This record gives sequence, structure tokens and C-alpha cells, in this order.
Amino acid sequence: MTNDMSEIANLKAGLIADIEAADTLEALEALRVGAMGKSGVITGLLKTLGPMSPEERMEKGPPIQDLRESVTAALAEKKGALEQAALDAKLASEKVDMTLPADHGAQGSVHPVSQVMDELAEIFADLGFSVATGPEIEDDWHNFTALNIPETHPARAMHDTFYFPDEEGQKKMLLRTHTSPVQIRTMMTQEPPIRIIAPGRVYRSDSDATHTPMFHQIEGLVIDKGITLGHLKWTLETFLKAFFEREDIILRLRPSYFPFTEPSVEVDVGYTLTNGQRVIGGDGDAPGGGWLEVLGSGMVNRRVIEACGLDPDEWQGFAFGTGVDRLAMLKYGMNDLRAFFDGDLRWLKHYGFSALDVPTLSGGVGA
Ligand code: PHE
Repeated sequence: MTNDMSEIANLKAGLIADIEAADTLEALEALRVGAMGKSGVITGLLKTLGPMSPEERMEKGPPIQDLRESVTAALAEKKGALEQAALDAKLASEKVDMTLPADHGAQGSVHPVSQVMDELAEIFADLGFSVATGPEIEDDWHNFTALNIPETHPARAMHDTFYFPDEEGQKKMLLRTHTSPVQIRTMMTQEPPIRIIAPGRVYRSDSDATHTPMFHQIEGLVIDKGITLGHLKWTLETFLKAFFEREDIILRLRPSYFPFTEPSVEVDVGYTLTNGQRVIGGDGDAPGGGWLEVLGSGMVNRRVIEACGLDPDEWQGFAFGTGVDRLAMLKYGMNDLRAFFDGDLRWLKHYGFSALDVPTLSGGVGA
């Protein structure tokens, strides 16, 4: 090892040239270790200063210190430059073009039944109804008896009920055949006035193009003072106009029979032929038109009001029930109910609604 002045100058020039030429942070680090590391050249030179006499050190020290400082400064400068270049490259490669359409990735869709349930909840919320729920595994009393359908009543046979096996000393349990037991549960737990809708799953042993063993209903119930059939008619008309988004919805009320309503009314809605297509709306008696049954309803039977512990001379009301799946079929044009529950992705893609872009009725009733 030499500390000859010109050799130090050469070493300095060589190291600085190497540092300037380094094109990666790794190469620069290798140079730093070679010069300033434990056994680096500059470290070696600095060590020679120790044993020198003060006079010799005065002479040979400054060029070595200068070499150390210059190389340290060159290393730091180059390191900064390389880091900046790496950052610039990263920023350039990661540049986001905000004008490109967003990539949504794989997306699911909202099932038409969920969509229609949301629409119904929205429409009835505007009319002051809240949503009530009840169990799908129901007892015989709530599903039938309290609704004025006693054990021997022929109406029990109308519902092809799924019963659970009988258990000693237990209530007879079943899968609810309609959403009407929610009427009972609501009247027994809420003080009137009552204004609820109860959407949910119901079960009947039945299967063809328009019947599945599980399907969806929505129940409506109003209990108040001085309620009449006129209130029922107005409510159903307002609801159907908002749901089908047409002003020319014409209803036909037909006398009917349900054990839990008296009088009972079946509600048909008129459809007309438009460009060879049946569309809901207009006078069903016009040529090519007709009537579709959409709802069962009536004034709540006083025996039901009594069974729930209320005084039927003080409180009256109306109730209605309809199939949610059926409403979806009528509004969105599907013709096979079974496909609703097959889980076929192609069907769901075709008939489903985007969760981000759902057509809503947010204008609300009368908008
Ligand atoms: N629960 C009846 C059915 O399932 C529908 C209905 C509800 C009728 C409320 C009148 C009143 O067919």
C-alpha cells in the first residue's frame, strides 16, 4: 500500500469515475464496500495514518482525508440520483389514466325477486307501511286457526301443506303456506293503528311452470278505526300504478272467499295488446285485452281481529296478499317460474339487475 500523492490522486479519479458510471444501486453499493468497507482501499489508507509520526501525518493525512470526503460525497450524490431515477421509472410505469373506463371485474346481479321486493318496500314505505317479518317454520295456530281456518275447515285442503312429523305434546308445526300468519303475529304484538307489509318465502307441495314448492308472497295489513273497502281499493290501485309505472292501471274487483277476510275481494288488473304484446295497463275489455288475477284481499274478518285480542267493534282493517314472483314475471316478462330458483347463471345474467345501476322507483308514488 502506498500513500504517494499522485497515486492517491489517481485512486480518487478512478473511484469517482467508477461511481459516476454505476448504473444500479447494487453496483454503487459494491463500490462503496470496495472503498470504505472494513477492508476497503480508503479504510486501508486511513489505517496507515495511525502509526505515523505527527509530522508525517500532517503531511500525508490531508490528501487521504480529502480522498475519503470526495468519495463519500460522490457516493451520496450518485445514490440520490439513482434513487430518484428509480422513483421516476416507477411513477411512469404506474401512471393511471383516469379517463379509461373502470374495470368492474366479475360482478354478480340482483335477483329479480330481490329487486321486486325492494321496489315493493319502497312503494309501501311512501304510503306509510313498515316491513314486518315472521318465521317460515310456523305453527298450525298462526298459519290456520287464528286466521279462521279451523281443523275441519275445507280451506286447509286448499293449501298443500308441508307438515313436520307430530311430536308428543308439541304444537303441530309446518312450513307456512302463506304470509298471512304475520298478520296475526303483528296484531298480537303491536298496538293499532297498524300499517305493515310482510314479504317472505312460503311453501306448498306444488310444482309446474307457474308453481314451485317455495315461492314468495307479500302480505299487507291495515288496522285502524273506520277503515273501509274504499281504502283498500285506493291503496291497491296506487300500489299497482307505482309498481307497473303506468297511470292507466284498471282494476276489477271480484267477490271471492277467504276465511280470514269478509267480504273478500279478488283483484284483477287489465292488460291490452300493444304491438302484438300483452302489456299490463288499459281496459282489459278492449279487443285483444283481458284481465289477470293479481291479488287476494278483503276486510279483515272480525273473528281474526278477535282471535288477536282486539275489539272488532273498535278496530277494522283490510288485508291483501300476492305472489312476489308472479309480480316479477308480469313486470319483467319471464314465463317459467321454475327458472327463478334453478340458479342458472345465464338466466341470472339475463334477468338480473346490476347492483350499481338498479332502476329504482325512487321518484316514489305519484312521481
Ligand atoms: N293468504 C292468501 C293466499 O295465500 C292471500 C290473501 C291475503 C288473501 C290476505 C286475502 C287477504 O292465497
